[in-house]
Amino acid sequence: MKKVLLAISSAPNKDSNSAVLLEHFCEGAEFAGVRVERVFLYDLSLSYFNYGNRRAEPPDESGNKDVRTMEKLIMGADGLVIAAPVWNFSIPAVLKNLLDRMSYFALVYKKEGDVRKTGSLNHLNCFYIMTTGAQWFAWIVDRIAYLQLKRTMWYFGAKNRGLLKAHHCGNGSQNVVKDRPNLLKKAYREGVRFGKVLMNS
Ligand SMILES: Cc1cc2nc3c(=O)[nH]c(=O)nc-3n(C[C@H](O)[C@H](O)[C@H](O)COP(=O)(O)O)c2cc1C
Repeated sequence: MKKVLLAISSAPNKDSNSAVLLEHFCEGAEFAGVRVERVFLYDLSLSYFNYGNRRAEPPDESGNKDVRTMEKLIMGADGLVIAAPVWNFSIPAVLKNLLDRMSYFALVYKKEGDVRKTGSLNHLNCFYIMTTGAQWFAWIVDRIAYLQLKRTMWYFGAKNRGLLKAHHCGNGSQNVVKDRPNLLKKAYREGVRFGKVLMNS
């Protein structure tokens, strides 16, 4: 059976720099034999986390439907690639909200009577694509965004397998990566490499 890679874009536009790099990555993974499911977070209707919706009940309520769909996709995938621009040294709110909303299935009590929760995403290999626009002296602070994402997925039990960073991506109002053929090739190659990791997992 084919391995499945879930590709999540958290950029506002489908031709955003991070989204274009993600697409090249996905094409590389497909070349390696993996089936790719693509999701644009801005297309979903994920209400903000609160203590009323923390268990996504009832499942067919409009603010819960999409997080339930994400649950099925994430639990059924072998790999996950997340692409995000760095905004104010952090990940975009739409992605942070997904991480908060998904904790009902990503962090669970394994046995009755347990006092501590455990990550349930042990089946998932993860890769990240992050774009930044600030000058070099901000890059060290930009790392907070990557660490936040990587640490959360680790907390959820997933395995972190790599990061592709692309600097000098401006303020996001125009696509600059399309004119960087070496970077696009690198994203494709990383996709092939990650696809092979999934195929051998
Ligand atoms: C609201 C906002 C905040 C930003 N904050 C940062 C930042 O903290 N560090 C940085 O390097 N770039 C920052 N940028 C630049 C974005 O990282 C850059 O526009 C983005 O990576 C381009 O990729 P995209 O086309 O996928 O959005 C910011 C841009 C916006 C719109």
